Amino acid sequence: MVLSGIVIMLFLTLASPPAVFGGEASPSVHWQRPVKTGSYGAVDGIYPESCAVCHRAQYDDWKGALHSKSVGPGLLAQLDPEKDPETALSCYYCHAPLAAQNEMIVDEGGYAANVSFDERLKSSGVGCAACHVREGGVFGPRGPEGNKGSPRAHHASIQSDFFERAEFCAACHQLDQGYELNGKLLVNTFTEWKESEYGKSNVPCQSCHMPGRRHLFRGIHDPEMVKSGIKFEVERADAGGRVGAKLRITNSGVGHYFPTYVTPLVIVKGFLTDSKGKVLKGTLKEKMIGRKVALDLSKELFDTRIPPFRSFEFAYGLRRPAKADRLIFEVWVFPDEFYDRFFENALKRRDPAMKMEELEEALKTTSGSGYLLFKREVSLEEMSSTAKG
Ligand code: HEC
Ligand code: HEC
Ligand code: HEC
Ligand code: HEC
Ligand code: HEC
Repeated sequence: MVLSGIVIMLFLTLASPPAVFGGEASPSVHWQRPVKTGSYGAVDGIYPESCAVCHRAQYDDWKGALHSKSVGPGLLAQLDPEKDPETALSCYYCHAPLAAQNEMIVDEGGYAANVSFDERLKSSGVGCAACHVREGGVFGPRGPEGNKGSPRAHHASIQSDFFERAEFCAACHQLDQGYELNGKLLVNTFTEWKESEYGKSNVPCQSCHMPGRRHLFRGIHDPEMVKSGIKFEVERADAGGRVGAKLRITNSGVGHYFPTYVTPLVIVKGFLTDSKGKVLKGTLKEKMIGRKVALDLSKELFDTRIPPFRSFEFAYGLRRPAKADRLIFEVWVFPDEFYDRFFENALKRRDPAMKMEELEEALKTTSGSGYLLFKREVSLEEMSSTAKG
């Protein structure tokens, strides 16, 4: 199961701050889990809605982003915090990192009920306080003109460059050594970034995912975001009665592999239609971009993800059927392909370790999240004339 691997990760990360931070003080202190917010917010609360009173713009952006949905039915279906606190805490590490979001806490080697547990705070997921509030107050980036030490109108603020660095995001978007599949870490976004041109020239996650400091965190679920990082080129290559063309897909602006996780799958299709647009039987060819893994994470099925500035080529070639009129290329994105399979399988098996109602709810979201990213029609008339000329 997905669970077992992540549980191993929990032991590693609780024992020591991730090695990836290279012994730097601020990341490991800021991201000690569970996150303790101390007495800040004792009066007004640390719910995102409490911050929204004065930070409406950030709240509206965040509310539409997946960070606000990280405690959803897909997570809850798999957890029973009272019976199995170990698994729950391993997931909360990223999905609900505040101490007050966790029903149970580690207590002298064992687990104990958490007296400060707050159900409403838990359901807010990765909220404002998870990133901004620590014992001692509200932490945030420096102002646009550097630290002016401007008077704090409503809360003491501590300004830190850490907020503008990729290491800030690595706290949840990178796994430490210890969980590899086929020799590669299951979540390796920060390292992919670090080894790319973006890492070398220090273009951090925030510059693409929080442009203008907005809190949209758009990713693979957003077609416009994906289009901003991917280029498509079609090249014709007819030869001797055969229809031929190439679709080149280039990772031109994604700061890590496209896609970075094992959860999405991109399907590239080529097929022929007649003059009325009807698909001709036997002409469909498909290739997949992604890192597909077995549901129990026991093996990797393939890894065809595209590293930054590299390309993926899809060559379509077929003896031309008489009725063929056009060649169509399509690229489909299924952002939740892994979870879709995972939820469906658990429902089918009526897995006793999972909650069926939540699974059905989760499946509704994942099964509907696929979209058409790219489509190009190539007229075969044009093709043969180019081939001749
Ligand atoms: C009553 C109004 C109010 C509330 C409630 C409030 N803030 Fe602020 N916050 C401000 C003001 C005003 C500033 C601008 C301070 C300045 O620039 O001098 C600010 C600045 C910030 C900054 C910028 C960092 C900095 O040092 O300038 C962050 C981050 C922040 N707030 C986070 C939060 C979070 C998270 C919450 C909820 C837990 C919250 N705020 C609740 C009024 C508020
Ligand atoms: C406390 C942990 C945590 C931190 C810190 C964090 N994230 Fe996330 N992030 C998550 C979780 C959990 C999700 C998945 C939410 C869900 O769908 O359930 C997520 C989702 C995302 C997504 C959406 C992915 C998609 O599939 O579309 C993007 C983009 C993202 N994060 C970027 C960032 C960036 C950039 C930073 C740093 C500024 C950051 N995150 C910091 C936990 C975190
Ligand atoms: C290292 C951080 C991290 C840990 C630990 C983690 N997750 Fe996630 N999880 C993420 C991120 C990031 C995403 C978004 C993935 C994407 O968009 O491709 C995600 C997505 C999901 C999703 C799909 C989106 C949703 O909210 O329905 C589920 C379900 C999920 N995780 C369950 C779990 C469970 C159960 C555990 C514990 C066994 C766990 N996760 C542990 C970071 C983490
Ligand atoms: C996943 C982590 C994360 C979450 C969740 C988050 N923020 Fe932020 N926030 C950041 C980072 C990182 C920056 C700095 C971005 C940069 O400098 O590029 C920032 C910047 C800010 C700033 C300063 C904006 C400016 O223009 O100077 C405010 C205010 C703020 N956040 C408030 C909030 C509020 C309110 C919420 C909840 C509704 C929230 N944040 C949720 C990570 C987060
Ligand atoms: C140069 C711009 C750029 C930078 C830098 C960048 N990203 Fe992305 N990121 C994208 C684009 C574009 C997408 C959408 C395509 C995709 O999903 O790969 C994306 C997608 C994602 C996703 C969605 C999940 C997935 O499987 O693709 C996550 C999570 C994410 N980024 C996190 C990060 C983190 C964490 C960093 C920093 C370590 C980072 N990104 C740096 C542009 C960037």
